[in-house]
Amino acid sequence: MGKFTVTPWKVEGEIDYNRLIKEFGTEPISEGLLQRIRKHTGELHHFLRRKIFFSHRDMNWIMDEYEKGNKFYLYTGRGPSGNTHIGHMVPWIFTKWLQEKFDVELWFQMTDDEKFLFNDNLSLEDTNRLAYENALDVIALGFKQGKTFIFSDLDYSKTLYRQALKVAKKLTVSTAKAVFGFNDSDNVGELFFTSVQSVPAFLPSAIKGKNMPCIIPHAIDQDAHFRVSRDILPKIGHYKPASIHCSFLPPLSGTGGKMSASVAESAIYTTDPPEIVEKKIRKYAFSGGKDTVAEHRLKGGNPEIDVSYQWLRFFEESDEKLKRIRDDYKSGALLTGELKQVLIEKINAFLKHHQERREKAKKVLDKFVLRD
Ligand code: TRP
Repeated sequence: MGKFTVTPWKVEGEIDYNRLIKEFGTEPISEGLLQRIRKHTGELHHFLRRKIFFSHRDMNWIMDEYEKGNKFYLYTGRGPSGNTHIGHMVPWIFTKWLQEKFDVELWFQMTDDEKFLFNDNLSLEDTNRLAYENALDVIALGFKQGKTFIFSDLDYSKTLYRQALKVAKKLTVSTAKAVFGFNDSDNVGELFFTSVQSVPAFLPSAIKGKNMPCIIPHAIDQDAHFRVSRDILPKIGHYKPASIHCSFLPPLSGTGGKMSASVAESAIYTTDPPEIVEKKIRKYAFSGGKDTVAEHRLKGGNPEIDVSYQWLRFFEESDEKLKRIRDDYKSGALLTGELKQVLIEKINAFLKHHQERREKAKKVLDKFVLRD
């Protein structure tokens, strides 16, 4: 078995998602749960059909409550340490679908405090500016105005701090060390920070004075924070948050782990123009094809390790088209260059639409943002 690491601060190696379910103590998304969701949504998002969202905590409880008329709200977030790349948007795209299907609120946290504390090279001004840059990408996905509340931890601190203190009072240093692996040379802000990330898991309940179930859609690396939330929230009078977890869009280079914003060649940014997208995919997308055309025609390619194919699992919504691509690649009918072309067109169409909406988002940013 290969070695891999999945923590909120580091994702590395060839990830075995089934092993994570066991190690973190989450549940796989069963056929039964999918049917239950489908009953309310009419169809299943391709991220669910393809097990890109593969694990959860307490989603059956969420459905029980929903069916009794106790509506949930959504909470997710972003650590603004750089520009948004398309990997960051995977959980947001799914969150948008949930909001649309269930017509519920979304509370979106921008942890500019976290990225300052955990990054030697970023100032508070940097992370705060990036929070609002990144918010444009969130809004561009089409979240509902009036039901979507985006806040920077720095600019909504008066509200957040009071609630974070309640969490912090119940969190011991030994728990923080055990869950996150901190040691005595880490700064004290880092130990405190998880208290802030717990707050939106109960904030609307605290504000309204009425407990509401919460679903947190997120990439599996954030689970440690919400293990802490689930331990502490009942002690301060709130529900444990439920969560639903996705796997990572692999980096273009196919070297395992997640797409990193700090390695420009491994990522495609939401603001990349079409020529750059084309160049990055042609040059860097790891290929599961054979060395020569003749050999590829004879033996076919391997979609399991081919990054272009893996990305199409995330971005090609039609199961039928995806299957045809897979079959043709395996048989050798489709060459690596042709597969890359399919991906380039798909990503560029997605980004063209996104970039138009991102421009428009600048005008309505204030309508989505909470400050105090
Ligand atoms: N800590 C997360 C990050 O670094 C940001 C975040 C805050 C988040 N709250 C969240 C992510 C809730 C998912 C769900 O990206």
